[in-house]
Amino acid sequence: MKEVYLDNAATSRVKPDNVLEAMNNYLTNIGCSPGRGGYECSLQASRIVLNTRLAFADFFNVNSSEQIIFSHNITHGLNYALKGLLSEGDHVITTSIEHNAVVRPLKGLEEAGIIEVDYISCDEAGILDPEDVEKAVCDNTKLLVTTHASNIIGTLTPVQQLGKIADKHGLYFILDTAQTAGIYDLDFADLKLDVLAFTGHKGLLGPTGTGGLAVSKEVAQEMEPLIEGGTGSISDKEYQPDFLPDKFESGTMNTVGLAGLKAGIEFIKEQGLKKIREHELELTDRLLQGLDAIEGIKIYGPKDTKLQTSTVSIDVADFDLGQLSFRLDDEYGIMTRSGLHCAPLAHKTIGSFPEGTLRFSIGYFNTAEEIDYTLETLEELMRTN
Ligand SMILES: Cc1ncc(COP(=O)(O)O)c(C=O)c1O
Repeated sequence: MKEVYLDNAATSRVKPDNVLEAMNNYLTNIGCSPGRGGYECSLQASRIVLNTRLAFADFFNVNSSEQIIFSHNITHGLNYALKGLLSEGDHVITTSIEHNAVVRPLKGLEEAGIIEVDYISCDEAGILDPEDVEKAVCDNTKLLVTTHASNIIGTLTPVQQLGKIADKHGLYFILDTAQTAGIYDLDFADLKLDVLAFTGHKGLLGPTGTGGLAVSKEVAQEMEPLIEGGTGSISDKEYQPDFLPDKFESGTMNTVGLAGLKAGIEFIKEQGLKKIREHELELTDRLLQGLDAIEGIKIYGPKDTKLQTSTVSIDVADFDLGQLSFRLDDEYGIMTRSGLHCAPLAHKTIGSFPEGTLRFSIGYFNTAEEIDYTLETLEELMRTN
């Protein structure tokens, strides 16, 4: 049976060869803890971490590499930023298409009576009007946090305009780039970001267990560390270091993961973001057109690759979406995802709550043939149901 992986919004399953080689090299030839010893292989491990940091600073156009903080994934990074920055009486602006990685930390702080949150409604296609964001700014608004793109329907948020609004009103701007890093240009300075949160295992083509934050120096100073412990630095002190990146990086680093992540960035740079994005969007166009031609399929979202990423969600008449996703995998080897995709608020926005959607998310290693096979399979299933 063929295997067609169309769940790249969850994680990129296929990793470039150089990612596997870098991880294998670390495990086979290095294997030591970074920043914890003076012997050669520990120094080599430290160099891997440092070089990955330097690669990210360059990739996101951040002034200095110490402004890159590594975490286990973007969920941890967003928790560090939100819980580390917000305090009693703060007001936060976010959107109605956020992932639970943003919504749950905010709801927790809201329910504890610590902060107030405005969830700005996007329209049914997930489109956000920046004017609505600006109207919500009030005296105690501390920060704006938004996703760069919906993980259900791919809709892109107007980050340039949001950055300007945040800058104008003196708000911190936190961007969740889980669905766009490694595919879209992300320039920390140009977007006027204070925190750029990233996850390593999706578009950045690294392994699971990697991710982090790019932070401005101002934010880094104000942000309280959520996790404290050993950093390999100033070990004579019983208190957490207050300098970057150690303030936020306690515990042994995921060095094997970071070795792979650095190789992921190298692969992306070598291919070029434009080429990666154009390939994904070309296939998305093909998928959208094909789905549109099948009777009984409803496509959510903008249906326009100028406004969205390569993530497409549908509803299918007369099918239970969970069963359909199972059959696509079980009988045809096509891996999709059904349900709510950790974003209930976004489903309420697009009108698919509580059933959810069937989601296809295309990655750089997918082919036109795979899209055609998926469309033919769907047609056949609908005809024979
Ligand atoms: C928009 C968005 N934010 C956050 C996350 C959480 O990513 P991770 O599980 O890597 O922390 C995801 C993952 O699906 C996502 O799509």
